Amino acid sequence: MPAATADDLDDWDEAAPRAAALIESLRSFGYSPETALADLLDNSVSAGAMRMDLKFVWDEESSHVAVVDDGDGMTADVLVEAMRPGSVSPLAVRHRTDLGRFGLGLKTASFSQARELTVITRTPGGRDVNVRRWDLDLVGRTGQWRLQRTPAEQAVPYIDHVRAEGGTTVVWTKCDQLLGDVDRSPEKAADRFFRVAAQVQAHLGMTFHRFLGTGRRGRIIRVDGNVVEPWDPIMKHPATHALGPPERIPFMGSVISVQPFVLPHRSKLDESEQRRGAGIRGWTAHQGFYVYRNDRLVVAGDWLGAAGAKDEHTKLARIVVDFDSSLDLQWQIDVKKSTARPPGIVMDDLRRVAAATRRAAEEVYRHRGNIVPTGAHRGADRQFVLAWQEFKDRSGQVRLRLNRTHPILSGALNGSVEQRRAVDRVLRFVEETLPTSLIGIRLADALDREVTPYESRPDEVAKLLRYAVEVMVVAGASTTAALDELALAEPFCSYPAIVESMRDGEL
Ligand SMILES: Nc1ncnc2c1ncn2[C@@H]1O[C@H](COP(=O)(O)OP(=O)(O)OP(=O)(O)O)[C@@H](O)[C@H]1O
Ligand SMILES: [Mg+2]
Repeated sequence: MPAATADDLDDWDEAAPRAAALIESLRSFGYSPETALADLLDNSVSAGAMRMDLKFVWDEESSHVAVVDDGDGMTADVLVEAMRPGSVSPLAVRHRTDLGRFGLGLKTASFSQARELTVITRTPGGRDVNVRRWDLDLVGRTGQWRLQRTPAEQAVPYIDHVRAEGGTTVVWTKCDQLLGDVDRSPEKAADRFFRVAAQVQAHLGMTFHRFLGTGRRGRIIRVDGNVVEPWDPIMKHPATHALGPPERIPFMGSVISVQPFVLPHRSKLDESEQRRGAGIRGWTAHQGFYVYRNDRLVVAGDWLGAAGAKDEHTKLARIVVDFDSSLDLQWQIDVKKSTARPPGIVMDDLRRVAAATRRAAEEVYRHRGNIVPTGAHRGADRQFVLAWQEFKDRSGQVRLRLNRTHPILSGALNGSVEQRRAVDRVLRFVEETLPTSLIGIRLADALDREVTPYESRPDEVAKLLRYAVEVMVVAGASTTAALDELALAEPFCSYPAIVESMRDGEL
């Protein structure tokens, strides 16, 4: 048989999806109640809504959830199109303020939680209230894509509101996934229902924080009457550090912007600030990249494969990434708008920024945010005493040299001339044979791992500290002065608790 050369040849079969089967499959995109409702709010925001009211109405099996917005609403024709799965092609160019992409969210989000979806809507100029309803049971029974023109019973009371105020109201009924098995234990089901409402409130405060609050663009979202408070991952606080201005990476005619932050050490935060900074999932889980698409948060803390695990030590690192929806395909935005994968081409940039931010965050974590201690008994301009120093040799090559004034080394270099020569010989041997090129090759890995001196042998640190104090006391320092100095010397600066214990006489 010759290969087909044109689309209009006659030899084809129509293989349209079976309504009953496909509409059930649309339920399984993997939404949580929070991500499903965020998807509905994307639509409300895109329609210019300034007020969005979510209602969780408990009535056992007949419980329902409604999202009432004051956006532009839809004409009857637009509503029918909106209810169609795949209403807009993902290839269509979208406006900067449109949070949609696939023409699916309204349906997939709703069906993930409920078997019945009613939409009631009116445009500002429109006389009529338009109503359409999907009932999965009817589609299943008839095998036809029958979009009904009547509302579900629980949706009826919302019609008057839409008639008076305009906007769009979406109502979920037959909420099988959201409710679970109500018959078995109605009390438990009710508890869960209201717990979900609370989780949704927190999730929306995070996801839409740039849209909320006071000001000209301030939108208001309510969940059962409670105003959703914005949660900005970059806590406004004097001790929050921006590690530079936003870096702008041009990409495919658009720009990806990246700005790293290190949040304050816990000693700088009061209890309520600590709780607030912890967000929904806690400090450690909330480290990493915060990816915003058209200002709407898609990823709330993830290293995106650009750095190692979510360590306790790096938990203060949060990096804001912004792009607009023209890059959806490159970022592999999913229908739920809850995952994103960076385009391969920016991965190197993200790795570099992640490594630097993790290092800075670890510094703050280990040193209580005081890179230079500022106590009255310490010189405020004291420098760290490093174990290694960089210098350039005669040929201009960068070399590494052990710092012979470091208390540990100066102690060993204190003996007789002979002893001093022997120690110096060993140190020079280490410096000269240091496999710098090998270290260079391994540098990328090393940045990810953030190795701290004596990390695997912390028990040795106390012994070493005791030795260093002795050396300095023999040389004429007081114990307090010695500890002040050693607190800033490697490796002790990574172990402030050990230094403090020795100061308190506990070691
Ligand atoms: N609350 C609303 N107010 C006005 N129009 C709406 C509302 N909800 C949905 N629509 C219309 O319905 C269409 C389909 O919505 P749906 O969420 O299914 O797809 P989308 O938003 O275009 O893309 P995505 O699948 O990425 O969410 C929207 O493009 C919009 O025109
Ligand atoms: Mg949508």
